[in-house]
Amino acid sequence: MAEIKRVEATEILDCRLEPTLRVTVATDKTVGRADVPCGRSRGRHEAVDLRDGGDRYDGLGVQSAVENVEERIAPVLIGHDVLQQRLLDELMIELDGTPQKSNLGGNATTGVSLAILKCAANDREVPLYKYIGGANAHTLPVPFFDLIEGGELAAGELAFQEHQIVPTGAESFSDAVQISAEVYYELGDQLAANYGVRSRNVGFEGGYTPGDMADPRDAFEAELQAIAELGYEDKFMLAADVAATHFYDEDAETYELMGKAYTRGELIDFYEKLTDTYPIVSLEDPLGEADFDGFQTLTDALDIQVIGDDLFVTDPDRLQHGIDQGAANALLLKVNQVGTVTEALDAASMAFRHGYGVQVSERSGQTPDTWLADLAVGLDAGQIKTGVTRSERTEQYNRILEIESNDTGSEYAAGLPGYQ
Ligand code: PGA
Ligand code: ZN
Repeated sequence: MAEIKRVEATEILDCRLEPTLRVTVATDKTVGRADVPCGRSRGRHEAVDLRDGGDRYDGLGVQSAVENVEERIAPVLIGHDVLQQRLLDELMIELDGTPQKSNLGGNATTGVSLAILKCAANDREVPLYKYIGGANAHTLPVPFFDLIEGGELAAGELAFQEHQIVPTGAESFSDAVQISAEVYYELGDQLAANYGVRSRNVGFEGGYTPGDMADPRDAFEAELQAIAELGYEDKFMLAADVAATHFYDEDAETYELMGKAYTRGELIDFYEKLTDTYPIVSLEDPLGEADFDGFQTLTDALDIQVIGDDLFVTDPDRLQHGIDQGAANALLLKVNQVGTVTEALDAASMAFRHGYGVQVSERSGQTPDTWLADLAVGLDAGQIKTGVTRSERTEQYNRILEIESNDTGSEYAAGLPGYQ
């Protein structure tokens, strides 16, 4: 038995210079250390990020979460076998006792849960993705590159949050990264020429933020132009994280898009035209986070991948509801939305069992910790989104490149399940 001897946490900083946690779990033989990501465009039903309030770090400090790890969680876990991920996560869930982990903090439980996972993989002396996925874990995910940012992630006019390019036609993961980087450079030149040099400024995920661009169709046009300039038309599809909750007016029950109010039906019509016009393979959160009925109608109407992010918040109960109703056909997987590895893996298994796709996702607040990359490969999810530039993003790509070069049995996912 690999007995847990130590559980410790430190307040560190994410890529936005905002506090988050680094948690260490150790046995006599080995150590696992994991950083907790933080969302900005958060769903209402997510696990709660415990913050200190007060003046320190403008209220964002996580000393109370650190204290919860060391004073409340550690005594319950110490002495148990680090390989018992499920039992350990259940002990934390029980100790917390609230639906959204508001007692201990979802950030505290996420950090401990991930550190347990990494410590256990180290104890077994296997790469993290192999510990997660077993002997057959081998699929290198298709990366969704958020080249143009809007919504909560940027200061521009675009309502859609992420306008992504998707290298479904790449030959390998390294080819996917290479050609996407080339499109990124080309797009930067074109945006600077057409929308001014400030367009090269980047948002929270390292994608461009063209100041005067307000129409998502202009973003897709610009991306297609850059793709065409390089002769890569057969290698890319497009996608978006709409994050529609953030431009939904609850009182009027309309979506505020480009200065116009759209009803749900009008917005679905807009998407139908959009997907007829552009090679869009996937839309994330195209409607508000409470609108299961709307998601069902839209999923029936469009022959593309429809991902639930704020809709499901990686919560097996909300996902089950969606599956029962036929709302969306894919899950966005963010471990800290639900607060433990076990619950996130349960959501992933449930999605796979019901033919739902799974896209493993970063948060806009990240650190260079690469457990995310291993999770995507370990689950054979076939899809990852982890932003574009800066080390907290590129380290995820670098980790998958490393797996590709070390593991001759690995294989690029190419295409998307059912939507090639
Ligand atoms: P977040 O947003 O990480 O800021 O919550 C990303 C997303 O909506 O997918
Ligand atoms: Zn999203």
